[in-house]
Amino acid sequence: MRKKVIAGNWKMNNDVNGTVNLISEIKKELNAKSQKADIIVCPPFTNLETAYALVKDSTIKLGAQNMYFEESGAFTGEISPSMLKSTGCEFVILGHSERRTIFHETDQTINKKIKTAVKHGLKPIFCIGETLEEREKGITFKVIETQVRNGLEGLTQSELSDMIIAYEPVWAIGTGRNATPQQAQEVHQFIRGLVAKLYNQGFADQLVIQYGGSVKPDNAKELLSQPDIDGALVGGACLKADLFVKIIDAA
Ligand code: PGA
Repeated sequence: MRKKVIAGNWKMNNDVNGTVNLISEIKKELNAKSQKADIIVCPPFTNLETAYALVKDSTIKLGAQNMYFEESGAFTGEISPSMLKSTGCEFVILGHSERRTIFHETDQTINKKIKTAVKHGLKPIFCIGETLEEREKGITFKVIETQVRNGLEGLTQSELSDMIIAYEPVWAIGTGRNATPQQAQEVHQFIRGLVAKLYNQGFADQLVIQYGGSVKPDNAKELLSQPDIDGALVGGACLKADLFVKIIDAA
């Protein structure tokens, strides 16, 4: 049985004080029901240390939102995997659609990042998803397949044993328009099948595939009850402790 994993992608929100407040509130809201899911928070880089101090004695795990693929050197403004590890980070979101579109990250860049992350023992949350135009053209599966093949190129099953894949249709991110449970399930099933083909069925069966894109307390339960949806990557709703914990409880 795959455990449900709920991750909060804070994006560029909250300073140090905001981080203390939000994590403290999340911890207060968590209850016995919440303990059945794995919980990850992904604050901005500057707040990781503060966040770690607050989560280390709890069941909440820490993730970053991005990382560079080199280990050190003249890369002004970038953050390395060992820097993340040293703050207490266990996970790192890679390939988010905002990184792909606003910061021009390609499948090849993301592949390098996944390789460096796993080499340093960071668990990637590898994001993929089609745009509205691609969905309307009927090429969703083709786009997803290309992103998965390119993103995971050259990586072995044992390197990817702790990877999470997050399916996030770009048209559903921050729009209030979530994929229907059926639309999401269909793509999740496709991803699992593809991973089985690229690796093997056993690996595909234990792979956690999260859905992301306008997940809210009122749609979480139905999305998370689909057989191939193993959790959620939550943006907007993770910035309010009560909403985030309601989504965790729905899992
Ligand atoms: P959203 O963001 O929940 O605000 O749609 C999800 C994400 O970008 O991971």
